Amino acid sequence: MGYKMFIAVLTQTVVLSLAGAVLALTTEQSFYPPTLNDTSYISNSSIGTYGGIYKAPTNGPTAGTPYGVYDYCSMPHPRVEEYKLPDALTNGSVKGKLVYLEYLQRHQRRSPYNILPGGENQAYQCDNVRPYLYAGPDTASGIQPMPMYAQTYQYSANPFTPGVNGTCQYPQITIGGVQDGYQHGKDLWAVYGERLGLIPRVPNSRVWFRSSESQLTQGSAGAVLRGIWPNYHGALPLHQMVSSVDTVNEGYSCSAIGSTLSSLESTADWKNHLTVTETLRSTLGSMLGATDSSWQNTFDHFSDNFQARLCNGYELPCSVTNSSDCVTMEMAEEVFRAGDWEWNYYWRTNPDVVKYIQVVEGLFIGEIVSHLQAVLDRKSTFDYSHIFIHDGDIGPVLGALGINALRWPAMASNIAFEIWETNNKQSQFYARVLYSGHPVQSIYGTLDWIPLSELISILTPYIPEDIVSLCG
Ligand SMILES: *[C@@H]1O[C@H](CO)[C@@H](O)[C@H](O)[C@H]1NC(C)=O
Ligand SMILES: *[C@@H]1O[C@H](CO)[C@@H](O)[C@H](O)[C@H]1NC(C)=O
Ligand SMILES: *[C@@H]1O[C@H](CO)[C@@H](O)[C@H](O)[C@H]1NC(C)=O
Ligand SMILES: *[C@@H]1O[C@H](CO)[C@@H](O)[C@H](O)[C@H]1NC(C)=O
Ligand SMILES: *[C@@H]1O[C@H](CO)[C@@H](O)[C@H](O)[C@H]1NC(C)=O
Repeated sequence: MGYKMFIAVLTQTVVLSLAGAVLALTTEQSFYPPTLNDTSYISNSSIGTYGGIYKAPTNGPTAGTPYGVYDYCSMPHPRVEEYKLPDALTNGSVKGKLVYLEYLQRHQRRSPYNILPGGENQAYQCDNVRPYLYAGPDTASGIQPMPMYAQTYQYSANPFTPGVNGTCQYPQITIGGVQDGYQHGKDLWAVYGERLGLIPRVPNSRVWFRSSESQLTQGSAGAVLRGIWPNYHGALPLHQMVSSVDTVNEGYSCSAIGSTLSSLESTADWKNHLTVTETLRSTLGSMLGATDSSWQNTFDHFSDNFQARLCNGYELPCSVTNSSDCVTMEMAEEVFRAGDWEWNYYWRTNPDVVKYIQVVEGLFIGEIVSHLQAVLDRKSTFDYSHIFIHDGDIGPVLGALGINALRWPAMASNIAFEIWETNNKQSQFYARVLYSGHPVQSIYGTLDWIPLSELISILTPYIPEDIVSLCG
């Protein structure tokens, strides 16, 4: 093998050391642990992070090394360095052009939602980031508001304590998240603007943006879109639904979501994952004052709390009453493996998975399908849609796509629905679906080149016919 080829192979491979054995994984394999659907995946400490990365400094865009590996702090995204055209186009069997991009992404890295009930032994600092909040009229000739930003402060006479010192709101985007978003946008421009000519040089009426009501997703949108259009002067609409009926981020109320969740959390599989983690949960519970059910019944809160520390340049937490009683990296890794197991269970393997995806995400999946159908019918009013959402939205969409294994959709995880039009004898539409830069490996095969109508058929069963009655 030539030297260049050797380097190329080297940079694509993660070397995982497992109990003496050295397992070579490609970057993409780190997304698909073969034993994820088994609770031994959680308890087997030699698996470590299965090639995943859970650390990032406070500042800067970060990227896992080698690029393309599962990285909780900043999932990979399409970049020119790695981007490849679909095989069908490179092998010369057809000619085609990218005509539509539906891009979904989770917001970038942030402070935690969940503060340790026993208190946090380190302060969080957010003075280095400005979440802007201001309002003005829709004309440039009207009042131009002062660009105000939120500055969180502590007031020593306030007898109530949030349990953590510092200058952040919880959650809020961090400086690393902003910088990461800007790089994400620059990279998307290089692929989908410069190289493939789909994203226009200046935002026009053929582009469309949406976010949840959360400041996190809005913060990401500003950073990412600035990366795409560094010199654009002016404001852009970020479409949002009324939050009480939003079809993302569990906006609308639906009792079937809660009842389906409690039923899938009462299976033997679910209980087994709690049994194998009993020691871990009780150790963490007493160390961190986290013994109530919201911390003990799932790994959501521990995982959220630990990743926010590790992904923003902080250390894992210690007990506030005993500074040598600390969460170790081994404990954190077990928490992350348990979190991955839970996400795979929620969106792939639980017995009510179809119904669960329908009630949580079915309406949103319906919107995506209507965008794709409009392309198929040559009636689309835009070419590029970018939607800023949450892990709880990315997970069910990947579940609907039948992804072979689902680790927790990490910070900035993204799904690119690329629609290609071929111009052989007659024009046809094909789809490729990339998850964080890699074609999705699913029960339908690798989603690298499938007729658009087939992609629509894969997603359609998840769109409820009557969500109102399904919700009860
Ligand atoms: C733990 O994981 C390693 C690496 O995947 C595997 O070789 C070993 O058999 C597993 N051990 C158990 C008890 O499942
Ligand atoms: C080119 O790729 C397409 C799609 O993967 C495949 O169906 C076709 O057989 C390939 N053709 C050649 C000549 O390899
Ligand atoms: C938070 O700050 C206060 C005031 O400086 C200090 O007394 C307290 O120990 C700090 N708490 C932690 C957990 O560091
Ligand atoms: C503090 O934690 C360390 C490490 O877990 C433990 O060895 C020590 O006994 C604890 N000290 C007290 C006073 O509980
Ligand atoms: C996952 O494991 C459960 C329980 O062992 C099994 O019923 C199910 O078929 C598995 N699913 C997949 C997708 O492997």
